[in-house]
Amino acid sequence: MIPDVPVFDILPKIVGHRGACGHAPENTLASLKKSAELGAGFVEIDVTLTRDNIAVIQHDTDVKRCSNGSGPILLKTLAEVKSLDAGSWFSPDFTGERIPTLKEATGTLARLKLGLNLEIKPTKGWEVPTAEQVGRELLDYWPGDLPLLLSSFNIEALVTVGEMLPGVPRGYLTEAIPPDWERRLAEAGCASLHCEKYFVTEDKVAAIRKAGYRILVYTVNDPEMAKRFLDWGVDAIITDFPDRMLDKLH
Ligand code: G3P
Ligand code: MG
Repeated sequence: MIPDVPVFDILPKIVGHRGACGHAPENTLASLKKSAELGAGFVEIDVTLTRDNIAVIQHDTDVKRCSNGSGPILLKTLAEVKSLDAGSWFSPDFTGERIPTLKEATGTLARLKLGLNLEIKPTKGWEVPTAEQVGRELLDYWPGDLPLLLSSFNIEALVTVGEMLPGVPRGYLTEAIPPDWERRLAEAGCASLHCEKYFVTEDKVAAIRKAGYRILVYTVNDPEMAKRFLDWGVDAIITDFPDRMLDKLH
C-alpha cells in the first residue's frame, strides 16, 4: 500500500546518508540499523536494478568500490549480487554483509520505524525501466504507514515514478542549483530540491522556500555547517554521521 503520510510535516532535520555510511558499509542493512541506533528517524539510500530486474540497494553502477566483486550491477543476476561480500571493504567487523534488495531494506525500515528517502539511481540509459520497477515494487509491498520521499537526479525517472505513485512526494537532486530550478521542479512534479552543500546560499534557500518548495542539503558532516543551513530554513540535512549532527542540535 502506498502511504498517505504528510512526509514534510514529519521529516526530521537529520537524515542518515546511505544509512549511516560514516559508521557502517553504505546501503547495507547494517547501515540502516546503525542509523536507527544513532537516533536518525529517516535515512537516504540508493536503488538500482539487477539483470533479472530486481531492485537492489546500491550507489555505483559497478559493484567494485563496495564489494569484493567487480562489473556492472545491471549485468549481474540477483544470485550473483547476493554472492558478494558488501561489508569487508569497509571493515572486517562487517564481513559477510550483503547487498540488500529493496524488499529486504523495506522490511528492516518498517521494523526500525525509519522513514525513507529513496534515491532512484539508474545505470545511465536505464532510467525508465529502473523507475518503473521501483514503482511496481513499492506498490506491491511498501507499508502504508511508513514515510516515503522519492528522489533522483534524472527527471525522466521522477516523472515515470510520479505517474505510478502520484501520492508520494518527490525531490529533484542536483549538485549546483540550476538557474531554471523552478521550471525543472514543476516539470518533474517535485516538492523538494536536494542540493550539494557547496552551492547552497541563504538567498537561494529563501527563494526556494518562498516559491513553496522544500530544500534538503547533502552531504553535510560538519555540525556547524548543518546548524547554519538549518538556521537559513533548510528542511533537512543528509549526513554520513547522524550522531554528530544530533549531538550538536540537542
Ligand atoms: O540523495 C543525496 C545524495 O545521496 C545524492 O548523491 O551520490 O550520494 O547518491 P549521492
Ligand atoms: Mg544517494
